[in-house]
Amino acid sequence: MSDKQPNPHEKIEKNVGLMAVLIAVAVSFGGLAEIVPLMYQADAVQPLPGVKPYPALQLAGRDVYVREGCYNCHSQMVRTLRFETERYGHYSLAGESVYDHPFQWGSKRTGPDLARVGGRYSDDWHRVHLINPRDVVPESNMPSFPWLADNPVSGEQITAHMRALRIAGDPYTEEQIRQASAEVAGKTELDAVVAYLQALGKHAPRGG
Ligand code: HEC
Repeated sequence: MSDKQPNPHEKIEKNVGLMAVLIAVAVSFGGLAEIVPLMYQADAVQPLPGVKPYPALQLAGRDVYVREGCYNCHSQMVRTLRFETERYGHYSLAGESVYDHPFQWGSKRTGPDLARVGGRYSDDWHRVHLINPRDVVPESNMPSFPWLADNPVSGEQITAHMRALRIAGDPYTEEQIRQASAEVAGKTELDAVVAYLQALGKHAPRGG
């Protein structure tokens, strides 16, 4: 061994600083090659026809969904597998989630996927179900969320949220932002979550 010329690779393997720098370079190139093309790929960044930034009440419902941690038990991502599309409907497309900040795809399914739940039940069903799931699904282990019916939606908060989303790139008009407060006036968080759930998957392609 000792009379052999040192292998140049050995130099890297024995120098942790140099190795770290070279790993960072290799990973950055890999990342750039994978991520940058996606930013220019229309179907990954363009909304599907009909997909618009969330109206005020639905946005408020989405905030409640995130706050209550519904994503801990529910995904919003139908995979491209036949048993999923037969159960839920068309598999999820990137263009449906363009205005989701942050997205709610997830993979944990204690309960069913919700990406296509809009219109599957009546508003009344959702109200009863959210206040006490066991009133409509006796074997359910979903928690009850009775306080949603008592909490009013804050117009001020939803206006501020819409302004922030506009800075992030969502095309809200000044008119929409000005009317947000009036749209949620007198509404409870329960109204908001139901509005949000009923709109899920509304603009998804039809069929499996
Ligand atoms: C601890 C896990 C858990 C959490 C947290 C949870 N769920 Fe559920 N959810 C379930 C289970 C299990 C079911 C299936 C039984 C049933 O319908 O109640 C379900 C069912 C549902 C359904 C009916 C879906 C269908 O296709 O039949 C909706 C809608 C729903 N949940 C909404 C919500 C919302 C909104 C939240 C947050 C406020 C939430 N869930 C939080 C476990 C959970």
